Amino acid sequence: MKKIRALFVLLLASHILYAQEKAATPPMGYMTWNFYADKINENDIRSIADAMSENGLLKAGFNYIFIDDGWQGGRDNKNNMIPDPKKFPSGMKALCDYVHSKGLKLGIYSDAAQLTCAGYTASLGFEEQDAKTFAGWGIDYLKYDYCDAPPDWQTAIHRYSTMANALAHSGRDIVFGICEWGDRSPWLWARKSGGQLWRVSADIRDKWQSKIAPKQPTDLHRSGAGILDVLDINTPLSAYAGPGGWNDPDMLVVGLYGRKGPSGDLGGIGCTDVEYQSQMSLWCLLASPLMISCDVTKMNAATRKILYNKDIIDIDQDALGVQAQCKLKQENWQVFVKPLQNGDVAVGVLNRGEQSGPLRIALSDIGLSDAWQATDVWSKQVSAWSKSVTLTVGSHETKVFRLHKK
Ligand code: GLA
Repeated sequence: MKKIRALFVLLLASHILYAQEKAATPPMGYMTWNFYADKINENDIRSIADAMSENGLLKAGFNYIFIDDGWQGGRDNKNNMIPDPKKFPSGMKALCDYVHSKGLKLGIYSDAAQLTCAGYTASLGFEEQDAKTFAGWGIDYLKYDYCDAPPDWQTAIHRYSTMANALAHSGRDIVFGICEWGDRSPWLWARKSGGQLWRVSADIRDKWQSKIAPKQPTDLHRSGAGILDVLDINTPLSAYAGPGGWNDPDMLVVGLYGRKGPSGDLGGIGCTDVEYQSQMSLWCLLASPLMISCDVTKMNAATRKILYNKDIIDIDQDALGVQAQCKLKQENWQVFVKPLQNGDVAVGVLNRGEQSGPLRIALSDIGLSDAWQATDVWSKQVSAWSKSVTLTVGSHETKVFRLHKK
């Protein structure tokens, strides 16, 4: 009896450990969709892998390359999924090996229906077979979309659980990203259904905010979600995020500058560098998966400054895994607070307004007591905070401070 109990405890412990090892912190990497759309091929992926391993992105923690929609070439005579032979003539296994040889991981995309969002072959009815195919290639991450599928919750939960189980039987550790755009409140069921991250909104576009205020989040499918629209959906969801399960507010649009393509549709006219820096700040405070989507083979200095900032990435990747809460909201101001594992606290101050301005914050209003040493993670300036602090924040800027107890 004792032996059985010990075995049970061991199994439980290894299960918890395993669950936590998978996406213990928000996944970071590169997603092809916004830059390449479905015109992606193996040479692009190799160039991205070369760039990321050489230009410091991998060192900064961006360790996934993720091939979005458009890689599929249908099924062979045994119903195995195959990549498009023109786009991926060397096959996915060889590409995986190449990406792995650079120290990176490879992600791939499919959909819980007959066809994907861009109309390619998808996985419904072939979950076990496709999961084994992906595992055989050496895939490390699956983004699983929901186009061409019925709208009800039950079907979504069933289809996602089916693929999660198939991945669990595939013989490989594959992170599972649920992508039904928040339409069925996946934060309530995605973790239980085997997902390590779940999209919370319609596709993000390269813009600050939708011109038409959405009456409900699904309106953003038509008006196009900007940075603030997605932020507003994600902000109340902090209780659902934590090690092994993350709210996914979609890709970073940093560095896209309004280019034509998916991120440029629906009013995606581009953002300023201040706004891009705000997105990075807010996504990190809210413990979000960080998926770059601009051209990583040619980034300008401003983009590099935003994406390589170790201090802000450390806040995103903090092992405590808490998504910041909005502790203060007044007119155009929002203050976010994220506790960190070593007792430090990250504080983000967003100015949504069109004017730069000072904001006085009483620390007690954001749930903080004591005296702190505050480091601005962007300017690196250090100041002393106690009782209250007055900050000047530019229009659309987000200042982020790491507070260390004095
Ligand atoms: C959906 C997803 C996007 C992208 C495209 C690909 O719109 O939400 O992130 O994967 O499909 O077709």
